[in-house]
Amino acid sequence: MNTLDLLRTDTEKLRKKAYAVMKEAVGEKIYYRGLLEFSNICARDCSYCGIRKSNKSITRFRLGKEEIMNAALWCAGEGYGSLVLQSGERSDRHFVRFVDDVVRAIKKESVSEELPRGLGITLSCGEQSRETYQTWFNAGAHRYLLRIETTDPVLFSKIHPASISLQRRKACLVDLKDIGYQVGTGVMIGLPGQSVEDLARDIDFFREYDVDMIGMGPYIPHRDTPMRDSKAGSIELSLKMVSAVRISMRNINIAATSALQAIDPMGRERALDFGANIIMPLVTPTRVRKHYRLYDGKPCANEQAADCSLCLSKRIKGTGREIGFNEWGDSKHWRY
Ligand code: 5AD
Repeated sequence: MNTLDLLRTDTEKLRKKAYAVMKEAVGEKIYYRGLLEFSNICARDCSYCGIRKSNKSITRFRLGKEEIMNAALWCAGEGYGSLVLQSGERSDRHFVRFVDDVVRAIKKESVSEELPRGLGITLSCGEQSRETYQTWFNAGAHRYLLRIETTDPVLFSKIHPASISLQRRKACLVDLKDIGYQVGTGVMIGLPGQSVEDLARDIDFFREYDVDMIGMGPYIPHRDTPMRDSKAGSIELSLKMVSAVRISMRNINIAATSALQAIDPMGRERALDFGANIIMPLVTPTRVRKHYRLYDGKPCANEQAADCSLCLSKRIKGTGREIGFNEWGDSKHWRY
């Protein structure tokens, strides 16, 4: 079945099929990646994003090395296995060196009996030069998340300033793969003017670029952005996208993202049922969580990492699925 037909399938039928494919291709285990938002300083001006450079009404922060290490080692202690370091986009020398240094320190200090190879490290720090990607890979990061946001050239240019190009974004994904990273990408669902046909083509793009991981969620407006009046994407279409991606790509990792929970209190659990196998518990220190708001209504903004851990484990217990503690949970799609 082509991707468009998949997206047009009855929701419950699609969910059942996606769950069966997931079970067969990657199993039912759920893997955790602690999500650490270490800086909201951003040099870019994407029209949808709350931490865009022109938003003057937020407090900018960057965590120091010590705070990052504490959060990382906390994850390791909880048995999370992997950590995602995410930030606003910067490419100055100081930033590149800082990430390099932090990745090296985490790799070194997170080694234990339970985690003999240390924490798995995923970076999500935007578009960078090939050289920078290589530097960070050499430091020990082995996965990278860089969403394409939409593959439709017209829509892409509507939601990004002229300085951001779809071609460049694609070139980054090629560089990352070439260097040896497990590559993750994804799109926002329900962007203004986006059609189901567009989303089907997005999935075809994921296949064409042979990516290993997908993270997608509904578009959700943020009040301090030019797109404040565009309405949020729907939960149903978002869940159908998760299932359609699972069915078409089979053995990749798919995240149940927090944006899903922002539009539906059970959004993340539902995504697990629709074929997702990754959850990213927030481990950002509580004092800065409220400043890393990409969209309005971000869940868990006032919680502490330990609360999120407890809450998620209860939620997952409800689904009856097992959590792969102390495992990296690499994408089975990835070739070594
Ligand atoms: N709504 C939903 N997702 C958003 N992101 C950024 N802003 C928004 C928003 N308003 C997503 C983008 C980005 C990821 C880190 O967060 O897809 O790649």
